[in-house]
Amino acid sequence: MPERANGKTLSPTARLAIDHAVQRLLDGGLVAFPTETVYGLGADAETPKAIQKIYAAKGRPSTHPLIVHVGPEADLAYWTTRLSGHARALADAFWPGPLTLILPRASHIPDAVSGGQQTLGLRCPSHPVAQALLTGFATRRPGGHGGVAAPSANKFGQVSPTHADHVRAEFPELLPDELMVLEGGPADVGIESTIVDVSGTDSDFVPVLLRPGHITAQQLAQVLGTLPGSPRAESPQVSGSLKAHYAPRTPLRVLPRPLLDSAIDQAPEGCRVAAVVFDTAKQQQGRQDVDYLLCHGSPQAYARDLYAQLRRLDHQGYDLLLFELPPRTAAWAAIHDRLGRAAAAFQQSL
Ligand code: TXA
Ligand code: MG
Repeated sequence: MPERANGKTLSPTARLAIDHAVQRLLDGGLVAFPTETVYGLGADAETPKAIQKIYAAKGRPSTHPLIVHVGPEADLAYWTTRLSGHARALADAFWPGPLTLILPRASHIPDAVSGGQQTLGLRCPSHPVAQALLTGFATRRPGGHGGVAAPSANKFGQVSPTHADHVRAEFPELLPDELMVLEGGPADVGIESTIVDVSGTDSDFVPVLLRPGHITAQQLAQVLGTLPGSPRAESPQVSGSLKAHYAPRTPLRVLPRPLLDSAIDQAPEGCRVAAVVFDTAKQQQGRQDVDYLLCHGSPQAYARDLYAQLRRLDHQGYDLLLFELPPRTAAWAAIHDRLGRAAAAFQQSL
């Protein structure tokens, strides 16, 4: 029976596991831990050798920066040289929660964690297991300052994990000696945090939305007083913004319903298709090799299940996954982003 976080109350078994995980981090080891977005693959943010283990395990280029996770009591001035009014307002409104802020990096924070960039991604997650881990770790670091660098706990370019079992399936070669996996139940949000670049000064810099997520541009605008800008060519690099990312192994296409129906008509006999649609009442008749699956009608519920569904479908022997294009409204922006990148991996082969 996995140990599940229940609100702020953690069972004695969960606490014991977290104590072991803190020790692993202090020893320079890897710990995968739950957050409300996706599971992270963590290491001490201030030990370059520990950070190298993350890059090696993921197969991620060392120029792609990591997010540093801190507990709610963290002193942000330790991590950044400037907390602009925008940054402070966003942290006050959305932390702990699924928001990453890009800030100027304090000079004593190692280059390795931010892929050589002068900025640092910082996030305070709300998941109780993550918070207990981060607080437990920080209190045992000099001065009570400590952070855990963590990308999503998947191999580079693959689907992010939303369950501890996904992490174990992703890194069997590291278990159990080189990687400890903390249990925290299924991730509530299901897709990675919203990332906002607030590294500039208030007077000459508009915050930039680098990665859409559960916290929408409209919610950010309510706090900032203006919509965040879009990434420019010189904006910092976000590996999750690579065109092909978050991809399952089975070819995937995202199509409006009429085109999805034509794609089914054109699929050769015997080609096993999963069609993920908003309405299963309309089905092409007489196709034994097509399974229609009803998706969630709300973007939050859709996001919660998306990565687990991609993993399930990948294991079910389909030849082709067809996803109906979600509504073109702002609330669905993060889903469009993730589905688009998953499909981009197959554009050449289809
Ligand atoms: O929800 C999340 O953000 C999860 C959980 C574990 O917190 N983490 C996550 O990490 O998605 P990762 O590494 O898979 O994606 C983090 C993204 C990367 O695309 C990286 O390029 C970007 O954040 N990033 C990190 N630091 C940055 C920086 N200093 N400047 C620009 N982008 C940065
Ligand atoms: Mg990732």
